[in-house]
Amino acid sequence: MEKIQVVVKSMSLQGDGNIEVVFKSKDKMTLPIWEAGAHIDVYLTPMLIRQYSLVGHPLDEQHYTICVKRESSSRGGSEFIHDTLRVGHELMISLPRNYFKLAPSNEYYLVAGGIGITPILTMAEYLEQSKKQFKLFYYVKTIDQVAFLERLRADFQHGTIEIIETMDGKGIRNSFPDVLKETQKDSQMYLCGPQGFMDVCIEKSLLHGWSNEQIFFEAFAPIKTNIPISPDNGFQVRLSSTGETFHVPNDKTIATVLIENNINIPISCEIGMCGACLTQVVCGEVDHQDTVQSDEEKQADQQYIALCCSRAKSTVLEINL
Ligand code: FES
Repeated sequence: MEKIQVVVKSMSLQGDGNIEVVFKSKDKMTLPIWEAGAHIDVYLTPMLIRQYSLVGHPLDEQHYTICVKRESSSRGGSEFIHDTLRVGHELMISLPRNYFKLAPSNEYYLVAGGIGITPILTMAEYLEQSKKQFKLFYYVKTIDQVAFLERLRADFQHGTIEIIETMDGKGIRNSFPDVLKETQKDSQMYLCGPQGFMDVCIEKSLLHGWSNEQIFFEAFAPIKTNIPISPDNGFQVRLSSTGETFHVPNDKTIATVLIENNINIPISCEIGMCGACLTQVVCGEVDHQDTVQSDEEKQADQQYIALCCSRAKSTVLEINL
């Protein structure tokens, strides 16, 4: 995957607990432009790779901007950015990718929870420029935690933005927007926020007549999936370089077991969508759970396994590590 070396140009607070980080290219080359909803992988360390939505201006070829909330349950990424990353640091990023693109529609409903505002804000700004109708609902604990308040308060002519403080029990469950309670046949909903927030929003929308095809969402945190049952209550994973073998129980992923045993593996999305942890399979049968490989790749002679989510159908799986 192509990478770009960047330097941290500036860091600033964006509401309580959120840090905006602006990168510029190290060699003064221009950066590829991107579209609303795009994200980049940020290689905080060789083993700590995280994905963040771009929230600057898509046509700015000099800078990329992300905004990161300090998560109390940080898996290392937000903690590193808040506590260690500083102006002048150099690191690698991927080219922008976009799995959360706006599709043609008559009307757009944008719903953000907390720092999920980052891709949603760029969508609102794009729709405004394109003279398309939109309504944005931004759920945030308190007004102090709102990121990009000035941009949200800009004079939008084609859309409205409502900020809903959830402190007083006005969460998405209790304060679901009335306008979303009417079935909107020619509309689309774009949703980004914590998994629980999105689950409730989707559940309520479906109850009010929306269809799955009208709802688009993006999640970077690991999605809790039911790990499929493997043979004999788990399986063995063997490293081809040393022959070391580890038991992978049904409640742990291969990646978790390897990391617990101090085996370094690159990990990013942890939900099988980025490809960072794909590893060559030497022998054994894979139960693919990722979405990053195509069906053809999953049936090819040379198999690769996403260690963060896939399992084994055989009792032993040997991987090229
Ligand atoms: S970490 Fe992204 S596919 Fe495994």
